Amino acid sequence: MKTPEKIYLKDYTPPAFFVDQADLTFEIKEDLTQVNSRLKIRKNQSITDKSTPLVLDMDEFEIISVIAGGMVLLPHEYTAHDGLFKIANTPDAFELEITNILRPHENTSLEGLYQSGTILCTQCEAQGFRKITPFPDRPDVMARYSCTIIADKTKYPVLLSNGNLVDYKELDNNRHFVRWEDPFKKPSYLFALVAGDIDHIEDTFTTRSGRIVDLKIFSERENIDKCYHAMTSLKQAMEWDENRFGLEYDLDLYQIVAINDFNAGAMENKGLNIFNSKYVLADPLTATDEDFMNIQGVIGHEYFHNWTGNRVTLKNWFQLSLKEGLTVFRDQEFSSDLNSRAVKRISNVKNLRGQQFPEDAGPMTHPVMPDSYIKMDNFYTMTVYEKGSELVRMIHQLIGEQNFKQGIDLYFEKFDGMAVTIEDFIGVMEKASTRDLEQFKLWYFQSGTPIVTMIRSYNPEIQQLEITFQQKTLPDRNQEIKKPLHIPIKFEILNAEGKNITPVNKKLLELRKEKESFVFKNIPEKSVPSIFRQFSAPVKIQTDLTDEELSFLMANDTDEFSRWDAAQNLFVKELKLIINAIQSRKNLSVSKGLVAAFKKALTDPTRDRACLAKTLSLPMETEIKNHFDLVDVNAINTARLFLKQTIAGQMKDQFLNIIDLCSKSDPLSISHGAMADRSLKNLCLSYL
Ligand code: SER
Ligand code: ZN
Repeated sequence: MKTPEKIYLKDYTPPAFFVDQADLTFEIKEDLTQVNSRLKIRKNQSITDKSTPLVLDMDEFEIISVIAGGMVLLPHEYTAHDGLFKIANTPDAFELEITNILRPHENTSLEGLYQSGTILCTQCEAQGFRKITPFPDRPDVMARYSCTIIADKTKYPVLLSNGNLVDYKELDNNRHFVRWEDPFKKPSYLFALVAGDIDHIEDTFTTRSGRIVDLKIFSERENIDKCYHAMTSLKQAMEWDENRFGLEYDLDLYQIVAINDFNAGAMENKGLNIFNSKYVLADPLTATDEDFMNIQGVIGHEYFHNWTGNRVTLKNWFQLSLKEGLTVFRDQEFSSDLNSRAVKRISNVKNLRGQQFPEDAGPMTHPVMPDSYIKMDNFYTMTVYEKGSELVRMIHQLIGEQNFKQGIDLYFEKFDGMAVTIEDFIGVMEKASTRDLEQFKLWYFQSGTPIVTMIRSYNPEIQQLEITFQQKTLPDRNQEIKKPLHIPIKFEILNAEGKNITPVNKKLLELRKEKESFVFKNIPEKSVPSIFRQFSAPVKIQTDLTDEELSFLMANDTDEFSRWDAAQNLFVKELKLIINAIQSRKNLSVSKGLVAAFKKALTDPTRDRACLAKTLSLPMETEIKNHFDLVDVNAINTARLFLKQTIAGQMKDQFLNIIDLCSKSDPLSISHGAMADRSLKNLCLSYL
């Protein structure tokens, strides 16, 4: 077997050849599809000379003919093997026409052109376009595309590709022909084609400059009634991006197709998103609240890629988080602005702690911006997506909404239509905010989750509180020595009555050294600091807060997220005690303080029910295990169950009461109130 080759960022060189125009024709036949590709190719004069051969990426398929500059090439005038198509001598600019054969019904890779049920569709990210036709399959080669599709009218009445429909003709033998043109240059990973007997719903959206955009969502006929929530979500996303970031849609048509066999969540192909049907279809009678939220989030995510990913794309695949981290940040903000910000933040942090932290502590650990890969498909990870979005969120936190928006404006002013890097993005944020983010960049290059420890010393005589933060990231195979990171700590001090008494200029502390102290004057006794509010940095937090102080924060913190986090800390502390008791075969018990804090929160009528449901959910096993070097799976599971049953036993009446209170809202409504009621009711049911 061939050893797979590692690709390094340090070896990056610009493309030797550009493609300015790609005219593709797909002739779909019974058991094969013939692809004809006409490429306008131009040498990159700055790095090539006469002897530089043309090298295109290609997968295994049969080539029928090659015509270069109008001349048919004989088989010895080009080579096509081991994933590469080569022509030794070429002029500086010429047209290359290649015809090849694909067998989509035999393609089980879910990449390139493949069959899902009776539908033909494509998936090209990251490197699937080379399974369609020979091409410089790298994101920094951006071409204009046209796509002509010829197929049987009965079997494939719907023929779609990127951009605008510019031609349609009926042909002999019950066949038809369409031609699509995408006016925007794009990398090959954004190419898409769909052919099949599918139905659609349609609507329109008027952009703020008054252009009318046709919106279409396609699915199998029997599912077409389940597409309406996706359509509503799409219109919400279009409006939100205009309002929050001033970004307007750029084509006259936006199409989404739901596919049953799909390898990821969805794909942002220009003007023709292809979705895993899980993130489009919702039957109001059977879809859960989570299904509705996920659809809204993923529809938003793919829509937002139109600017962050498509209009400005990646220079190379090492930059994947440039589009994914930023677009996850944008979809999280979209969901937060439209629904409950606190609930959204809590879910994201739970996900991060439950999945990304373990990834970063295990054998898969890699930086948000990796410096090498064997197969790019393996880098669609929690780290690139979720930690990547946390890094964008920290930049937002450090420079503020106004500067961040200006940075986004500058990003499109400078880089529209280009393939750029994460450092280009940070560059515009530095420029817009006049802040130095040099140290911050380390977050992108260094893997692992930093551990931040907080230790206090208080002098009651002069009412002075000193807080010392220390950061440490454990060495791993990526870096032996970890440098200190630039860590934003959103911060408040609450007095014993729960009032914020933080000096105005100390609400965002910036930890830059390994160890740093911050001094606060005029702090009365019994005040409690609330740190990493809204989870202002993706770190593991260790504090000297007592159980009483955590209970106090759980009840009184003015930040919903921090209330949740205090509760989670209390639960973890309690679980650690129980796990310890299990391991040393002692009697198990739950502390009275925890039960009291739980009861107080549960019966507080002023609390938002959705947040309350999150606050009173026990951490998942995968989160609990983050707190141990040696993971005792059975003990974790037993302890969690014991804690849950003990709480349930002591609070049965309150739970029953709340179930009753929360059963009054309309079961089909997806308003925040109705969803909040259901989530609290389900929490109570789960305890009982
Ligand atoms: N680019 C897709 C997405 O994250 C995944 O392939 O939207
Ligand atoms: Zn994405």
